Amino acid sequence: MPVMQMRLMREIRFSLGPESPESRPMGNSWSGVPGSDALVPHVILRAIVTGPVDPRTGYLCNITVIDRLLRDHAIQWLRRESAGPTRGGCVAGALRHLWPVVEPHTPRPASLVTLTLCVTPHLSFTVNRGDPHMVSMTYAFEFSAAHRLYCEDMSAEENQRTFGPCTNPNGHGHNYVVSITLTGDPDPRTGTIIDLGACERIVNAAVIDRFDHKHLNMDCPEFSTLNPSVENITRVVYDKLDGAFAPATLTRVRVYETPKTYAEYTGE
Ligand code: NI
Repeated sequence: MPVMQMRLMREIRFSLGPESPESRPMGNSWSGVPGSDALVPHVILRAIVTGPVDPRTGYLCNITVIDRLLRDHAIQWLRRESAGPTRGGCVAGALRHLWPVVEPHTPRPASLVTLTLCVTPHLSFTVNRGDPHMVSMTYAFEFSAAHRLYCEDMSAEENQRTFGPCTNPNGHGHNYVVSITLTGDPDPRTGTIIDLGACERIVNAAVIDRFDHKHLNMDCPEFSTLNPSVENITRVVYDKLDGAFAPATLTRVRVYETPKTYAEYTGE
């Protein structure tokens, strides 16, 4: 069998407490070492590596080796960084400095593709090998809205056949999650790619305040003629936000209609 190139993702979950979890046996690596001794941040660090798959073992890289890489090099560094004066108090700046701490120790022939630090389930930062000086921030928002999927030029039967219960004349609702990814060069003074408060004001004004608790077809001119499918909602959100975060760039919009369905747009 020819040698395959593959990508492999591994994440570790840990708390940034003063005590090193490495000093005691790992009790529950699924949930991470609990931070019950103190109120400390619990974070997730995710690595994606790429490389050839060994035809004998079927392994790209033993995951215990990736765990060691992250635990030996990343956690200690992050713990020191979070305890001391931080680089502008910002995760984006810290993560960029973490890349050269971790990357040289990646076990060959694997190579590190991305490092992602999830500081909450809804806010994460990523650096990638293409340009490890740039940092991407992914941040999630939500709005609740009703919509009706319906095409004016279709008969009632055709709408029913195409959209099923989603064409119910009085609409139906979803709790939408809008996840945006911004990419930028962290400001050397602040360590941020964008002020989080400014980012929130932009997304709230352009998207959330316009769509939350609305009937998209009836209350929002964007969808007076455009069918509010999750694909079209995603495109509308992208167009509203594209260019709004300068000097950071909007690199991806993902809209979840349900936890099982999302559409994603990264620009033309
Ligand atoms: Ni729907």
